[in-house]
Amino acid sequence: MGRGHGAPGPADGRPTAPEPERGPAAGSVHPLPQLRTATAADAAAIVRLLATVALEGMLGLEPATLRVEDEAERLARLDLRQACALVVTVRGHVQAFGLAVRGAGAVIAHTATVSVAVAPESRRRGFGRLLLLGLRAWAEAAGVRKLCAGVCDRNEGALALFHGCGYAVEGVRREQVLAGGGPADEVLFGLALPRPAAQDGPRAAGPAELRGDPGAAARVIPLRAQDRAPASPGRRAGRRRKGRRGRRPR
Ligand SMILES: CC(C)(COP(=O)(O)OP(=O)(O)OC[C@H]1O[C@@H](n2cnc3c(N)ncnc32)[C@H](O)[C@@H]1OP(=O)(O)O)[C@@H](O)C(=O)NCCC(=O)NCCS
Repeated sequence: MGRGHGAPGPADGRPTAPEPERGPAAGSVHPLPQLRTATAADAAAIVRLLATVALEGMLGLEPATLRVEDEAERLARLDLRQACALVVTVRGHVQAFGLAVRGAGAVIAHTATVSVAVAPESRRRGFGRLLLLGLRAWAEAAGVRKLCAGVCDRNEGALALFHGCGYAVEGVRREQVLAGGGPADEVLFGLALPRPAAQDGPRAAGPAELRGDPGAAARVIPLRAQDRAPASPGRRAGRRRKGRRGRRPR
């Protein structure tokens, strides 16, 4: 839930009215749905879409905080190593928007949080699934190891979508969100991504790989004699004495 790319509210507290749609650029009209990276030129259409979907109360977004110029700036500055923004267009018009944002800070930089929104009139056409597939493709290419999402437990469509796309329920935050006039639970979804093939194998399993799973050390790295815990001075002395005792006289 929420967009995760730090959408700040308007500095002066006033909402920005979404710009009227100018229509698709010449040459961009395609009869079939298109999945592509969002650009600053999509900002007005994205804000309009999010403002509509946010009114349903399932996005964790305040429509009044959405500003076209903020969105345009964010999209123009988007660093593809840190985040991915996708749109689905039909005949050049934005019908769905998806965002994945990598966790901020070293301890969660291997994760990314995803959120998706589809225009009400375009639902059940596979756009939500398409966005999640596209965001997953970005995540794998960017070396993200886990995707996460938070969904209100009353949001049956989103619950079914994430389940259907392979996400597992990892927990529930009780009464975490306000929905439908009262507190509701937030269901936390997670999807572990495969490690890139180049990193497979014991050689690549360095400390960073093992941090999350201490047991993995034993599984993937054969212990070498010099890696074993050093013997204590007392044990070393005992071994020396034993060695001398056990030596045969010539
Ligand atoms: C949730 C949402 C993104 C789904 O988008 P969508 O484009 O309609 O989803 P899809 O067509 O790709 O559906 C894929 C599957 O998800 C499930 N699903 C989607 N919406 C559903 C609904 N309302 N009820 C039951 N299952 C649903 C179905 O299994 C569906 O497959 P099917 O159509 O073959 O049965 C859309 O309803 C939406 O924008 N909701 C408001 C915003 C939101 O809740 N975002 C998620 C929180 S981050």
